Amino acid sequence: MIVCSCNVLTDSAIRTACHTARPRTTGQVYGCLGCSAQCGRCARTIKAIMDQALGGTCTSGCAVCPMAAEEASAETSEAA
Ligand code: FES
Repeated sequence: MIVCSCNVLTDSAIRTACHTARPRTTGQVYGCLGCSAQCGRCARTIKAIMDQALGGTCTSGCAVCPMAAEEASAETSEAA
């Protein structure tokens, strides 16, 4: 889903940027994705996605998610 219409940023691109670059501000998210805020209407939504992705409640399951790797590791440990 497109979250930022000015820069055509999707929620999955924002999650991936959060998991790979660990940005601390919405400005850093734009920077990670090679753009900058234009109108700013998406900032709240980007912040919510950041909080979800970096706060440990992300369930997107993207390939680069460190939380997914941690869960897989824990499941492997439990199975052994
Ligand atoms: S909608 Fe994201 S900067 Fe305008």
